[in-house]
Amino acid sequence: MIMAINYQERIPNNVDLGSNRTLQRALEHWQPEFLNWWQDMGPTDFQARDVYLRTATSVDAKGWATYGHVRMPDYRWGIFLADRNPERRVGFGDEFGKDVWQQVPGEHRSTLRRLIVTQGDTEPASVEQQRLLGHTAPSLYDLRNLFQVNVEEGRHLWAMVYLLHAYFGRDGREEAEELLQRHSGDTDKPRILGTFNEPISDWLSFFMFTYFTDRDGKYQLKSLAESSFDPLARTCQFMLTEEAHHMFVGDTGIARVVRRTIEVMKEIGSDDPEAVRRAGAIDLPTLQKYINFWFSSALDLFGADQSSNAASYFANGLKGRPDEAMYEDHIVRDQTYDLEVPDGQGGVRVDQIPLRNAMNEVSRASYVKDCEIGVVRWNRLLQKAGYEQRLALPSPRFRRTIGSWANVPTDMMGKPISAEEFATRQGEWLPTDGDRGFIASLMKGVTEPGKMAGWIAPPDRGINAQAVDYEYVRGA
Ligand SMILES: [Fe+2]
Ligand SMILES: [Fe+2]
Repeated sequence: MIMAINYQERIPNNVDLGSNRTLQRALEHWQPEFLNWWQDMGPTDFQARDVYLRTATSVDAKGWATYGHVRMPDYRWGIFLADRNPERRVGFGDEFGKDVWQQVPGEHRSTLRRLIVTQGDTEPASVEQQRLLGHTAPSLYDLRNLFQVNVEEGRHLWAMVYLLHAYFGRDGREEAEELLQRHSGDTDKPRILGTFNEPISDWLSFFMFTYFTDRDGKYQLKSLAESSFDPLARTCQFMLTEEAHHMFVGDTGIARVVRRTIEVMKEIGSDDPEAVRRAGAIDLPTLQKYINFWFSSALDLFGADQSSNAASYFANGLKGRPDEAMYEDHIVRDQTYDLEVPDGQGGVRVDQIPLRNAMNEVSRASYVKDCEIGVVRWNRLLQKAGYEQRLALPSPRFRRTIGSWANVPTDMMGKPISAEEFATRQGEWLPTDGDRGFIASLMKGVTEPGKMAGWIAPPDRGINAQAVDYEYVRGA
């Protein structure tokens, strides 16, 4: 049974909202609060512009969206769940093979609520973090992509708020209110997760965020898409369809930076980082430092490497492994995991822990593999152009603040070093104030259709088969 999206109602949806008046009224009450939040905390100064945005029209993976110019406040945020599969069974943990849940089991109520709120909180947080970026977009194409990501993160908030309203009663409604009251970087009411409180003030960071941090989101959603709580699983399945574009923005954004840097190195006949900077492009060492910074902070979002919470989420069927179907054993009661931990004497020791307690680490490892795909692509550009430099992911032990490696100084390769050595050498590995200042100096908005800022190459193609010089944002 495919439920079409109903755009006739105030809140577009494919959950037959009209048949549940109480829920509909509660969400219609939340809607103006969301719109106020969007006006106050969403992208600054571009609310009246016409932006070429895609809007979901069905949850069918093929042809699920339409494109057209809309003002962002008129975007049709709504509630879209992947279709229900009546055959679906619990896919992992102690309840493996039983019926999935259409309602929240009482004993898992507070845990599921917390998982949903934590996921939901990141969605508006990223919009808040990015709210000033529109002013310094390197092209209209990029400006449009930023706003597409922003409106979809807004929709992801809707996705979580729907679950809270529909399945968690009064507590859920209160949580939905608070999702609009916490703000990124607010001293009194900050967002739940640390990284989501740092402003993203330059476009290199935005591309890093969409590559690394949104990809963490992808893996969290993949885990939740396995959940035995079926409405949560179906919500996350559709969010993943939207999320793919966010990572495309990051992946191609970084590739375009690399391509431009190569062009400039050819033009000036030098790969000297200072010379590259003088020519207005981003030198490879600075790019590497941004990768180190964003990759390491995204790794922390997976949680501790040994976690009894993760074990119970798995045992109880709340949160599975990303792509659970690719594993043979979905119960994993007796398996173990070899975890590398610091031995406290400057070396590394392997601890054997129950696999269920290592679920965060298992997800993190899949994530790291996924991150490597882009790095290989970026390096191919360097190789083809005849350069020997390569970009790389740092070791997952590097600069961690959560888990066994938290606050253990290591070099980029993950070799434990002294705190003194880390302090003297961190400027080689992480962006310095000088690096950030240089990146900031490049950030100047380019608004002529088809023109690109000097530090980034044009994309291979436009959005939805439009030309690169299409007027993606009108009146910018
Ligand atoms: Fe999202
Ligand atoms: Fe995203």
